[in-house]
Amino acid sequence: MTNVTKNAKATKVQAPIVEALKKAYENPTYQFHIPGHTKGNGSLPEFKKLIGRKALCIDTTDEFDNLGTLHPATGPIKEAQELAAKAFGAKKTFFLLNGSTAGNLALAMGLTKKGQKIITNRNCHRSVLTGMIISGAEPLWLIPERFEEWGIWGYVSPEKVEEMLKTNDDVSMVWITNPTYEGVVSDIKSISAVCKRYGVPLIVDEAHACLWNFSKHLPTPALQLGADAVVHSLHKTGGSMSQSSMLHIAEDSLIDIDAVEKALKLLHTTSPSLMLLASLDAARANLDSARGRKLLERAISNAKYLRREIEKMEHIHDLKPDFGYFTDVTKVFIRADGLSGKRLESILEIDFNIEVESASDAGLLLLSNIGNTKADMEYLVKCLKKIDQAHYSDICYLEKKKHMPMLTPVIKRSLREAYYSPKETIPKELAVGRIAAEVIAECPPGIAILLPGELITEAHLPYLTDYNFIEVLK
Ligand SMILES: Cc1ncc(COP(=O)(O)O)c(C=O)c1O
Repeated sequence: MTNVTKNAKATKVQAPIVEALKKAYENPTYQFHIPGHTKGNGSLPEFKKLIGRKALCIDTTDEFDNLGTLHPATGPIKEAQELAAKAFGAKKTFFLLNGSTAGNLALAMGLTKKGQKIITNRNCHRSVLTGMIISGAEPLWLIPERFEEWGIWGYVSPEKVEEMLKTNDDVSMVWITNPTYEGVVSDIKSISAVCKRYGVPLIVDEAHACLWNFSKHLPTPALQLGADAVVHSLHKTGGSMSQSSMLHIAEDSLIDIDAVEKALKLLHTTSPSLMLLASLDAARANLDSARGRKLLERAISNAKYLRREIEKMEHIHDLKPDFGYFTDVTKVFIRADGLSGKRLESILEIDFNIEVESASDAGLLLLSNIGNTKADMEYLVKCLKKIDQAHYSDICYLEKKKHMPMLTPVIKRSLREAYYSPKETIPKELAVGRIAAEVIAECPPGIAILLPGELITEAHLPYLTDYNFIEVLK
């Protein structure tokens, strides 16, 4: 048993959904309701063996077993959301079962209307774009700094936000992704001050930053810096199960909470998984406990160790904070001289059995997680040292494929109009000069290459190697 788990046993954490689910498991009933596998009795035996009978026994949905409902929030689900709001410093927290994607869709759908303008960074996640297609709002693109050497988008400057607010008087909100996928942090405090001066709500897509609330060694969370609403993918770094996230509304938020709640109800499944909801409850309880904080400090110290070791290497470099921006220390974006990010990823995977978060043109992203041990990190360092000293060469096809477009779009039609216009599918080579009709945003990180209504140019082609055909407007 590690020190972290030993010390943790002492404190009892409050997790109402987890407790209710445990009670339901310990007091089984004869079930004549969904899910039809009925505690796994109707499941494929191989599947049951793989995930375990217990997991299938607690696979239930709301309204049964006194577990409360999600829409409207009642019972243990309501209590768990309230505890989460308290832990994250929010006025209200909504649990999300289609990731932060659901939160972003609800924010756009609930808060904006056709033709309204949203100032947002070009490297926003595709869920923000989908939200705009649903509501009919239009993006005013903020072009962040470009980190050419790293092949990634950087931070958004408050001055650019102010400039756009000054020149557009019909802006319904400002919507900033912070941090970027690679951990680059914008000055949200100043951006928030600008938004307040113009009376425009600020939404921060903090999908990758749910840990910030729980350590003073990480950047300050946007809710503490004046943002009106924030999404957190707890499943990404907070320890909940895949697909579970949270949407937090700030204490003195300018936004219409009812409108967002109504949109969430329309967008969500009517059979929410209690297992996923319990995992959100558990993740919050864990992060907010002494044990969770220790795990987080370990993740931070592991990341610092990795960065110190990289510093000693000859050919491998990590992205560090610099003039104008901070970084989240747990997101370690690295590059190796002479190797594309994709090639480095394949070396780590094939030669060392290491899986990374993602790779792009120049580099790759490693996450130092609350679940990683010091031994994991030592192994990673050992392997990077070997790569640093070996003479790997790049592989041409991996080198040529481009992943992270940093292009300024040429907009010919509105997003929604183009999405719903008559289209045709044509070979990629014939698409230059035509207007795109589909969202092309590869995951990860789900950043747009092309959007409906944008002109397709020669510059897009290196990013479209996986596409033989493209949908364009007729
Ligand atoms: C910045 C950003 N926002 C939102 C999302 C969507 O999150 P989820 O996968 O929880 O739906 C992602 C996913 O990668 C993201 O990178």
